[in-house]
Amino acid sequence: MRYLIFTDIHGNFEAFQAVLKAVQKKRIDHYIFLGDLVGYGASPNEVIARILTLKPLSIVRGNHDKAVSGLDSVQTFNPIAASAIFWTKKAIARKHLDFLARLKQSPEVVQGSITICHGAPFDEDYYIFGEFDASEAFRYIQTQVCFFGHTHFPYVYVEKDGSVEGTFLEGDASEVRLEKGVRYLVNPGSVGQPRDRDPRSAYAIYDSGARTIKFYRVEYDIEETKRKILAEKLPPALAERLSLGI
Ligand SMILES: [Fe+2]
Repeated sequence: MRYLIFTDIHGNFEAFQAVLKAVQKKRIDHYIFLGDLVGYGASPNEVIARILTLKPLSIVRGNHDKAVSGLDSVQTFNPIAASAIFWTKKAIARKHLDFLARLKQSPEVVQGSITICHGAPFDEDYYIFGEFDASEAFRYIQTQVCFFGHTHFPYVYVEKDGSVEGTFLEGDASEVRLEKGVRYLVNPGSVGQPRDRDPRSAYAIYDSGARTIKFYRVEYDIEETKRKILAEKLPPALAERLSLGI
């Protein structure tokens, strides 16, 4: 089976479309989304309508999805992120709001073999940054592979012989080959708001038959996304950061 593993679209419809176009010829069997459909970007309704057409195998909720649907307060958000939450609450269609409110809390084990979460398997809102966090996360994972989002950095943590090592997955077409007796904690990077100074959209494809995870980047129409953010009078910093990939 070939799975598209993607996360953190954040209302960026152009980035999402570019990813879907890029994978058209990559034979995707299932779609797995790790949370944060909305927040920051100006196209929450378009993003939700589009993801529903894919009939994803699983979608778990992100902290922005929770904040927009009223399941969480914006107190932990910085002022710019919070103002985007308030804008999204006004702009979102009722049926899409209901959809966000019903999204599952992670972690979840998909098809008995893939653990997924938004932040960390022990706390959906926790940021896994570094090997200390990853070591703790592995204690909560029963499968060989776990995918997470939330940090917006493409990264793999490998647990082998009791020690954990992290690697940043730079650029396009990095590949991880799964070895027996080794476990993997993997972030595909963000579709709609990359923060690793590469402004291109990030996603990964997990091939359970070939035992590989491949990481990709794709360019999208950033200028159009920025234009929409500014037109909706969202904070201009949200437009500017997209060009810088921060
Ligand atoms: Fe996010």
